[in-house]
Amino acid sequence: MPEASASVPTSAQELDELPLPTRLSDVKGWFHPADQVLFDWFLSRQLRLGEPGDLLELGAYLGKSAIFMGGYLRPGEAFTVCDLFDSPAPDDANSKEMNRSYATLTRRAFEANYLSFHDELPDIVQAPSSGITAHVRADSCRFVHIDASHLYEHVHADIAAAQRLLVRDGVVVLDDFRAEHCPGVAAATWGAVATTGLKPLCITATKFYGTWGAYDETREALGAFLAGRGDMWHGAEEVAGHPMIRISGAKAEVPAQPVSRHASAVRPGAAVQPPPNKPVQRAGDNRRPKGRGLASLLGRRS
Ligand SMILES: C[S@@+](CC[C@H](N)C(=O)[O-])C[C@H]1O[C@@H](n2cnc3c(N)ncnc32)[C@H](O)[C@@H]1O
Repeated sequence: MPEASASVPTSAQELDELPLPTRLSDVKGWFHPADQVLFDWFLSRQLRLGEPGDLLELGAYLGKSAIFMGGYLRPGEAFTVCDLFDSPAPDDANSKEMNRSYATLTRRAFEANYLSFHDELPDIVQAPSSGITAHVRADSCRFVHIDASHLYEHVHADIAAAQRLLVRDGVVVLDDFRAEHCPGVAAATWGAVATTGLKPLCITATKFYGTWGAYDETREALGAFLAGRGDMWHGAEEVAGHPMIRISGAKAEVPAQPVSRHASAVRPGAAVQPPPNKPVQRAGDNRRPKGRGLASLLGRRS
């Protein structure tokens, strides 16, 4: 179940400090070009094949990957974003992790970033990801991005939640599954491959992509797509009986980017390419959004 409506800034100073990104690369976060290519491929393929389902992100930070994912929503589908933002963490280890890495994060900054690219906010659950199954229906999601706490117990629980929330052929993505500073993600990820039937479709330097559903067809289609790209190397790697694809994408070119309503402030007349289901925004078009949008976020200015 979505949380209550967007919080609003209360002082002129807070309004001045809200970010106004003119492009996705202005949004602070961790979402590399190779992963943008893969998110685009998986999400566009689901749209093309008419695979139904909602989107879910656990761990949004300032919205970089969430803004990107929000471009692949069909009418009637829900996008839920779960993050602690400026709330306390549920345990000491998680609290330490938050203080170390995300000390300046606020929900308002996330909302201002998101609304720079989309007319409406996603459904925001400001709470530990451990409670996500109380907010999202079982068997309802086609794509789940797990990027919240990087501690083993949390990631293990997030994967179990994803298995429950995904539709049969849904895709789960795990961030930082092999980084030296977060061994818990690696343990939880490969543990799920070994014990829950999670099948590894592909890996990049930073993310693991897997499914509990249809495997061969998806992996072969991905291989064919990658074979046509000169900017990304790929090869096969057998893991636990699965011919997973290993991808090196250091030189990957970013796919079509979400368009910021502030873009014209910087590059008047620049042509910008929207993601598949987004209308092109013309330079100079700085319309205010509707609904749970920027207008309502800034609405109580006086
Ligand atoms: C690596 S950042 C997410 C990066 C983001 N996906 C991007 O593209 O830039 C991790 C986020 O997880 C959140 N987080 C940490 N522990 C959490 C928990 N137990 N439940 C929910 N969110 C959590 C942090 O507040 C932080 O915003």
